[in-house]
Amino acid sequence: MARLRTTVRNGETGVPPVRQHGRGRPCPHLKISACVLALLILGGCRNDMHDQPRYKTYAMSDFYADLRSERPPVEGTVARGELHEDAYFYTGKIGANPGDYMPAEVPVNEETLARGRERYNIYCAPCHSRLGDGNGMVPSRGYKHPLTYHQDRLRKAPLGYFFDVMTNGFGAMPDYASQIPPRDRWCIVAYIRALQLSQNAAQGDVAGMQVPSKAPEFEEPGSGATLPVTIPKSNDTGAEQK
Ligand code: HEC
Repeated sequence: MARLRTTVRNGETGVPPVRQHGRGRPCPHLKISACVLALLILGGCRNDMHDQPRYKTYAMSDFYADLRSERPPVEGTVARGELHEDAYFYTGKIGANPGDYMPAEVPVNEETLARGRERYNIYCAPCHSRLGDGNGMVPSRGYKHPLTYHQDRLRKAPLGYFFDVMTNGFGAMPDYASQIPPRDRWCIVAYIRALQLSQNAAQGDVAGMQVPSKAPEFEEPGSGATLPVTIPKSNDTGAEQK
């Protein structure tokens, strides 16, 4: 053992020397890492489609006289479904302010109001309640309580205001532009105005009818065990048979 130790120290063991990294041939892992590194670095040098001379959307350009980098459509371009020429129909606003009339496309008639009631009961009543007093089911479970429509400020609010709230949302209320198309939004506007009139009607508005209307009268409920039997009066049957 003692002899072996001395020979190792002198480097003359006769055993072929063990090849170690960093001395003779370089380590194969090192080669691979160098290749990967070179690829990464060279990859970063690609310059073809990545860096184009282009404008960011709506960026200014002093190349054109109007200083806009985006160009207007050429004359004679035909709009396909996105023209929105009638701004009032799509925004409810005249300039920056809400307008107070129904657009010509949506006349106020029974059909419009019926459509408005149906859409209102689907999309608005869960929060605003069918009556519009703001006591819907959703606020009763903790959502922010909307104010009632039956207050002076909202009775006087122009029609376009309601359209705008549906289109863009209002405070905690999300917008309904994607769920309710513009025409239906106008139907809802008409129906909300009708709701407001109905909840604030005066005797003179209703042509002799009683305000508030008389409470309905109910008959004694049956036991539920048998269907109610209606016995025709004797002279009624005679009239029908004629
Ligand atoms: C998820 C509940 C919810 C639904 C659904 C909802 N609203 Fe609202 N709405 C609110 C809340 C809450 C407010 C009050 C927001 C605030 O003050 O931050 C509000 C406010 C409003 C206002 C403004 C009132 C004011 O004080 O000026 C209008 C108008 C209105 N809603 C109309 C509608 C219409 C029309 C619909 C149906 C298309 C609708 N809302 C659907 C919750 C709702």
